[in-house]
Amino acid sequence: MSPRARTVVLISGRGSNMSALVEAARSPDFAAEIVLVLSDEPGAPGLAIAREAGVAAEATDFRAYPGKAAFEAALDARLRAERAEIVCLAGFMRVLSPPFVERWKGRILNIHPSLLPNLRGLNTHERALRQGVAEHGCTVHFVTAELDAGPIIAQARVPVLTGDDAEALAARVLREEHRIYPAALNAVARSLTAANVREGRLNPS
Ligand code: GRF
Repeated sequence: MSPRARTVVLISGRGSNMSALVEAARSPDFAAEIVLVLSDEPGAPGLAIAREAGVAAEATDFRAYPGKAAFEAALDARLRAERAEIVCLAGFMRVLSPPFVERWKGRILNIHPSLLPNLRGLNTHERALRQGVAEHGCTVHFVTAELDAGPIIAQARVPVLTGDDAEALAARVLREEHRIYPAALNAVARSLTAANVREGRLNPS
């Protein structure tokens, strides 16, 4: 079997995208292995879901640190201790600072519930309905210092239907999120492990 990219998933809440990644990574052909689920919120329902799925899960509680820099230093140390190669943000509600993002450049992915570059930020489904767009969707992208603006890896489109409210639209988009996030992680992990083997950092086994 080829080496699999060690991946940590960061969450803050319910963790349905995290579950989709964990399920996909059960396949021996999947290029990433989910080694840890980490939440900045100790009460995140996704932590219990990850443990039930047999994945190590823990909280790095933002409130336990004197500020953002100290929190991010703890997060970074935890990722390094886990020998993480890829970090997937999956409903992680903190904006990471430019130095943190720079340190993990090309290795942090995020899923965003809109067709970026349209609708960066929060409340995307309500805003899509207000815009009156015919299509909405989701985007997996690399995380850069600018919020929701990094290079796009994958997108999926859904129609906005007559009578949609934000909840109905969110559910339609979420189904697509669960499809494209695992596919995008698989593609990134595959190219990363190929580069590692090519450059002698890993031996294929
Ligand atoms: C998803 O809609 C994701 O796109 C956004 O936050 C939501 C998280 O949902 N970033 P879940 O925790 O993965 O269920």
